[in-house]
Amino acid sequence: MATYKLLLLAGDGIGPEVMGEVKRLIGWLDAQGIARFETEEGLVGGASYDADKVSITDATMAKALAADAVLFGAVGGPKWDPVPYEVRPEAGLLRLRKDLALYANLRPAICYPALAESSSLKPEVVEGLDIMIVRELTGGVYFGEPKTITDLGNGQKRAVDTQVYDTYEIERIARVAFDLARKRRNKLTSMEKRNVMKSGVLWHEVVTQVHQREYKDVALEHQLADSGGMQLVRWPKQFDVIVTDNLFGDMLSDIAAMLTGSLGMLPSASLGDIDPTTKKRRALYEPVHGSAPDIAGQGAANPIAMLASFGMALRYSFDMGELADKLDAAIAAVLAKGLRTADLKSEGLTVVSTSQMGEAVVKELQALH
Ligand code: NAI
Ligand code: MG
Repeated sequence: MATYKLLLLAGDGIGPEVMGEVKRLIGWLDAQGIARFETEEGLVGGASYDADKVSITDATMAKALAADAVLFGAVGGPKWDPVPYEVRPEAGLLRLRKDLALYANLRPAICYPALAESSSLKPEVVEGLDIMIVRELTGGVYFGEPKTITDLGNGQKRAVDTQVYDTYEIERIARVAFDLARKRRNKLTSMEKRNVMKSGVLWHEVVTQVHQREYKDVALEHQLADSGGMQLVRWPKQFDVIVTDNLFGDMLSDIAAMLTGSLGMLPSASLGDIDPTTKKRRALYEPVHGSAPDIAGQGAANPIAMLASFGMALRYSFDMGELADKLDAAIAAVLAKGLRTADLKSEGLTVVSTSQMGEAVVKELQALH
């Protein structure tokens, strides 16, 4: 059996609590001989600052670069508010994203049948929803130069942000999205605004070329990002994979995620290029939520976002799609049985702790094996 190297960076607040449930799952997979991971742990965020006065050390960065994948909990909290900007907890996550060059942010929006009632949309619109937003993460208007505010001297100021995309940036994010579509329902929707933006014109052109050259077997459609946003709320089940730029992706992924309920349910992946030595795609998996200082230390956090982030690692870093499917099925089964952590709507249902939820997921997984 192949052994994969995983770096676990639990971080702060509820980070270690939800990571503990992934460790339980990894231990069980190992004991059953289902999958083997060589795990290492490191400090990040406030925990790293307290120990080493930096939000991530060079040594931990080197471990992240050498690992087959990084699992990240959450960082931050009021305790570190007075810490200087450069070493604040969030800087650790930003350095990981930058040094691993994680340009593709994957945010699935999955609606478990048992939670369809918790959505802001009608249950029939979201029940069974399973779509994936791929957001370009290292380019576009958040990074383009010039980026300035100039005093015009007449009582007016002028603010400038610049949207920049080069062909290679669009090609590589398009390939990630097409590859994902191939592993899913074989449909990709690309969103831009070519009607008003030059970067949209190039985006449309390059995605079309990549499709023609390398992915003719995948169904490709283009939508303008504004009407795409409308479609996402009107009938989200029309989509499989959506690929879009950094700015539109920021908004569309937040919208899509919230169609499905609680922050405690939402996983994510950030992918980079294939590493020449490990031959694996650089990857970091993390829940969408933060360190939740308001409930930290109470054993009340929902571990499902973290567990599902590990599920994404199984699927996208380790080619264990079947096991990832079983993990999703186990999560769905636990919810269907009425178990809820405190963040989920729970009238008449059983409210459980972080570790009870983690245990229940492992038990369901056992039943599926
Ligand atoms: P948050 O996501 O930590 O919490 C927002 C609300 O959702 C809170 O009421 C919290 O209790 C609840 N919540 C979040 N995750 C939950 C879970 N797994 N189970 C149950 N309830 C959950 O966002 P907030 O409060 O804005 O930020 C708190 C700290 O986390 C800040 O220091 C912030 O900078 C940091 N943060 C870190 C992120 C990261 O590490 N990627 C992302 C977002 C925030
Ligand atoms: Mg956002």
